[in-house]
Amino acid sequence: MIKTLEWTDEGVVMIDQRLLPSEEVYPVFKTYEEVAYAIKEMVVRGAPAIGVAAAMGVALGARNITTNDAAQFDQQFQLICDVLAGTRPTAVNLFWAIERMKSLYEKLKGEGLSFAEICLRLIDEARQMHDEDVSINKAMGANGAALINDGATVLTHCNAGALATAGYGTALGVIRAAVEAGKKVAVFADETRPFLQGARLTAWELHKDSIPVTLITDNMAGHFMKAGKIDCVVVGADRIAANGDVANKIGTYSVAVLAKENNIPFYVAAPISTIDLKTKTGEDIPIEERPQTEVTHVKGAQLSPDGITIANPAFDVTPYRYVAAIITERGVARAPFEESLAKLVNAA
Ligand code: MRU
Repeated sequence: MIKTLEWTDEGVVMIDQRLLPSEEVYPVFKTYEEVAYAIKEMVVRGAPAIGVAAAMGVALGARNITTNDAAQFDQQFQLICDVLAGTRPTAVNLFWAIERMKSLYEKLKGEGLSFAEICLRLIDEARQMHDEDVSINKAMGANGAALINDGATVLTHCNAGALATAGYGTALGVIRAAVEAGKKVAVFADETRPFLQGARLTAWELHKDSIPVTLITDNMAGHFMKAGKIDCVVVGADRIAANGDVANKIGTYSVAVLAKENNIPFYVAAPISTIDLKTKTGEDIPIEERPQTEVTHVKGAQLSPDGITIANPAFDVTPYRYVAAIITERGVARAPFEESLAKLVNAA
């Protein structure tokens, strides 16, 4: 199994996704500032993986606090949470994970535990979130596999695989589960400009697992849909609003529109922690703007002239009307999403 990230006594070990597929390197991030850097620079990326990394960053930061003064400990703990929360704005799993760590900290403080004991419990919690994420993805996979027919060709965008999670994946988890159920499934992977998560990560993962994958550039998706080569689309999500609008990697919206035009079902696979009922519609989801060099350069080589205007929104929002179903670990939600999502979220 691909090890995306792991807690060790030395720190958080993460595969450096910026270097894949040419190099497989596993650096250790020993401070919360280093974990924050890893999230911001996309050493680790993908909403669920970002959440787990942030939880580990909180635990690491708390462990490294040296004061025993309650007010100072509190202040430093809050700073750790703020720095980690300031890394990437769109994936709600980041904030969900930090909130979970914060509320555990408050609860344990209230119970009168020592800071040393609290830190051990925070480490346990972060490790548990890692393991839970893998189980959640497997449950999601089992729920979604039923939607994939034997012999199907599935188009996916970006990377919502083992590398985007603690393991197994969300969209790729659905595909893996269908394959494990004995179905023959082939995948078309959009390369996903500008960061190339499809070309570098999805193609790498699927090839490693011997799942047939055809890599295409983003602008080829419509051509293959029209030619009848795609049976369904499955993507992940960074945040799902209460009405079913879905924020995911830039280009997802175009894929969804093309899918509707060609009568191809467009499915979203995401854990309950990605559903943000406090965000009413996609209009309210903050969209991260990433550095211009991600668009102008590939591996240091400049593609465009100096002096022009560059835009680099990392995500877009697909309106709920394009979404055939949202696959979660608790079941599959369909329109009207306001009701079906709330029901799943509150089913705990
Ligand atoms: O910018 P990234 O690589 O973090 O964006 C990742 C995506 O958009 C994924 O599709 C999403 O986080 C779901 S991952 C299971």
